[in-house]
Amino acid sequence: MVSKKEKTKIVLQAPRGMHDILADEYIFYQSVFEKAEKVASYYGFQPIQTPLLEKTELFTSGVGAATDIVEKQMYSFRTRGGDHLSLRPELTAPIMRSYLEHGMHTLPQPVMVWQGGSCFRHENPQKGRTREFQQFDLEIIGEPKPIAEVITIRVLKSIFEELNLSPIVVHINSIGDKECRPAYRRELVNYYRKRINQLCPDCKRRFRENPLRLLDCKEEKCLELKQGAPQMVNYLCSSCKQHFREVLEALDSADIFYSLDNHLVRGLDYYSRTVFEIFSSEGDGNTDALAGGGRYDYLAKILGKRDVPAVGAAMGVNRLVQLMIEKKIIPKQRKQPKVFLIQLGNAAKYKSLEIIEMFRRAHLPLNQSISKDSLRGQLNLASKLDMAYALILGQQEVLKNSIILRDMRSGTQETINLKDLVEIIKKKLSYD
Ligand code: HAM
Repeated sequence: MVSKKEKTKIVLQAPRGMHDILADEYIFYQSVFEKAEKVASYYGFQPIQTPLLEKTELFTSGVGAATDIVEKQMYSFRTRGGDHLSLRPELTAPIMRSYLEHGMHTLPQPVMVWQGGSCFRHENPQKGRTREFQQFDLEIIGEPKPIAEVITIRVLKSIFEELNLSPIVVHINSIGDKECRPAYRRELVNYYRKRINQLCPDCKRRFRENPLRLLDCKEEKCLELKQGAPQMVNYLCSSCKQHFREVLEALDSADIFYSLDNHLVRGLDYYSRTVFEIFSSEGDGNTDALAGGGRYDYLAKILGKRDVPAVGAAMGVNRLVQLMIEKKIIPKQRKQPKVFLIQLGNAAKYKSLEIIEMFRRAHLPLNQSISKDSLRGQLNLASKLDMAYALILGQQEVLKNSIILRDMRSGTQETINLKDLVEIIKKKLSYD
């Protein structure tokens, strides 16, 4: 039992960096998810839904123990049963876990899935960066060839087009594979060793633990140093070079605008070869990425299974919604109701539920306010909502199985039989 004293202490506010999505904003999210799902299904992606919680070790091994996400941003806890679980900070490791757990390698390859939903990272909340955020994620698992990168980027671009958020630019790089990356890593370490005193405290640690992450730092001093750092593209082995060339050629022929970003490494450890991020090309260059992804051929092995080549990407849905609002792109709303149901008295209130069901089954939108009692209050609301018709249901009408149909513009009324109601409304509104 909560005591009275404790009750008054509750601060009625969503946790920092998280927020409620109310109806006006919800339509934006709905529009993004609906359009994204439609495009993805067209290209053969199937839905998947993994739990919000996963074993913490999935992310420490999969995303990488020395990444910011795992080191600083995970919501992890121990359950009453003693399990170590984390709220998912991203969707790729959970989807690969699911692929391996369900033996999806026995299905025709590649397995192509999409997933939408919340991710959680304990970041410093600021514009475009929240602690709970929504992603729309695509994964192509079991495809070693560049076509996987090209499909992923093509689908993302089409989603941006559908949402009227074009033009976009794809920042792209290759970070090589296990053959060629060690030599690059050595060169990188040599470069930074000579400049170690100029690095920020975080980067001093990154230098020891995970030097590739040095290229990911957003501190001014470190950004300057990055300019002179060796570039992976000069260290790629011939097969990585060939792979990257094919990706770029395919993007060229698909008219997808990209920009080579020789220091792009991304903040997750599972990537190999192609990495990319997508930005609005109307931004000032300092804006956050709208989407990011890449190839992750070693993730399955890191999780303790065989090598399974894979590519994927995730869009930051909150950032897309923010951009839509800034650009005043209002999503098309579903069919808006033009009929308002008014009920007077208790019997009519209950009968209203039957009428709402009749409309629902006929796919006719309907407005009503069952909680209101007075005729005037309900009529006022109907005209405020600019309804074409009001249906008035009183005690008399309930007894006679009829209803009054009022034309809100002319004020004329007629009594009609309930069994004819849906057909009459359909005709009047010329729906169907
Ligand atoms: P990510 O770059 O960490 O990649 O996240 C993808 C997108 O999620 C970002 O481009 C951004 O739009 C959005 N995002 C990330 N963090 C936040 C935040 N704190 N607030 C708002 N939006 C955010 C991944 O998560 C990879 N799993 C993508 C992937 C899929 N790679 C392969 N397959």
